[in-house]
Amino acid sequence: MTGMSGSIGIDDLAMASASHVLDLRVLAEHNGSEVGKYYVGIGQSQMSVATEDEDVVTLGAAAARPILDRGGESLRSSIRTLLFATESGIDQSKSAGVYAHGLLGLGPACRIVELKQACYSATAALQLALGIVARDPREKVLVIAADIARYPLDSPGEATQGAAAAAFLVGQDPALVALEPVTGLHSDNVHDFWRPNDRSEAIVDGKRSLGSYLRSLEGAWNDYRDRGGRPFEEIDRFCYHQPFTKMAVKAHDRLCRLAAPGLDAQARAVQLGRSLELNRVLGNSYTASLYLGLLALLQGEEGLEGRRVGLFSYGSGSVSEFFTGIVQPGYTGLVRSAEARETVAARTPVSYERYRDLHTLIDARAGQDYETVRETTGPFRFAGVQEKVRRYEPTAS
Ligand code: HMG
Repeated sequence: MTGMSGSIGIDDLAMASASHVLDLRVLAEHNGSEVGKYYVGIGQSQMSVATEDEDVVTLGAAAARPILDRGGESLRSSIRTLLFATESGIDQSKSAGVYAHGLLGLGPACRIVELKQACYSATAALQLALGIVARDPREKVLVIAADIARYPLDSPGEATQGAAAAAFLVGQDPALVALEPVTGLHSDNVHDFWRPNDRSEAIVDGKRSLGSYLRSLEGAWNDYRDRGGRPFEEIDRFCYHQPFTKMAVKAHDRLCRLAAPGLDAQARAVQLGRSLELNRVLGNSYTASLYLGLLALLQGEEGLEGRRVGLFSYGSGSVSEFFTGIVQPGYTGLVRSAEARETVAARTPVSYERYRDLHTLIDARAGQDYETVRETTGPFRFAGVQEKVRRYEPTAS
């Protein structure tokens, strides 16, 4: 694939979801909420639920596989860096990327590392990748962002869980989005959302997290403009990190209040495009969420070639970044729209009881050896733990 000469950016982008799905109507029926709170209030209709034999490794490798299939052997040999972004790590020492690298059959001449800063780290991976490619344009960097969002059962955060992955390839003359050099940054040591080492579920102060997200957006935008970034009017579409889709709407309203007061609701909705469509049914996928928003935008709208997209990445704690890219000609034929629709539609509805069982299984099994039941419909499965080692295998599909 070839794009704008000499530019660097996203050459390919693909997604994967966990195999089960829970409609938020089911959750509402059990916890007494009105379904409108979920469908309208937070803008979420479903969430993907990971099976026993799925984790960030299987989801991440599943997202990357179509990229490698399309690129063939020449791509495989050009990938000398694999960056795995996640906050649902499976080991305190060994990178989830090393497991994914093995499942994907990549060659040994590869540097692999896992990155963590809540939902932000895939953007850190992207920035590192840009530097690697700038130094040697022959390099292709594979970035995998995969997460399973977990909050305590019966807590307000429960409706904003999810399980999905995005994978993207960073290279020279990218086929999808050429990234521009100016970025805006904003970091702040805040306790809005975090997960201590002894917990499998996040601790969150919901209201504080919304405030911190919006303040970070303002900070990152102001820094972007101070650094010579484009005026608001020159940015055609906006993609936001989406813990729930309503957050992106709130964020865009906030940015417009700051940078384009007077812009009406219809114009603001056009600027978000179709970027909310995947996240609305997949749920929060933490590190992957922004890039699934970008994928949904590209899948859902023709005629974006040459248009500028603004991207806002937020990771609680917090680190955030605003940056832009230019959509490349020919993108519509490359974004696998039918495959994404099929992935979403093929998920198996899970009963409320099974969803709760799956949720508690992780803590119940901690520290033990066990085998998982065969449930995933993805290309790879987590077979269980044997002698303290996590075992993975391809499935038949
Ligand atoms: P809550 O406090 O139970 O909900 O949980 P609420 O009472 O605020 O209601 C939500 C919205 O629904 C409100 O709209 C209600 O008015 C509306 P708003 O006033 O905000 O516009 N509503 C209804 N609408 C229609 N029909 C109805 C109805 N009832 C109510 N019948 C909360 C919401 C988001 C706090 C909770 O789900 C939560 O704690 N989630 C987790 C935290 C989170 O997602 N934070 C987002 C920002 S931080 C971030 O993005 C980072 C993150 O991804 C982690 C990372 O970086 O790794 C989370």
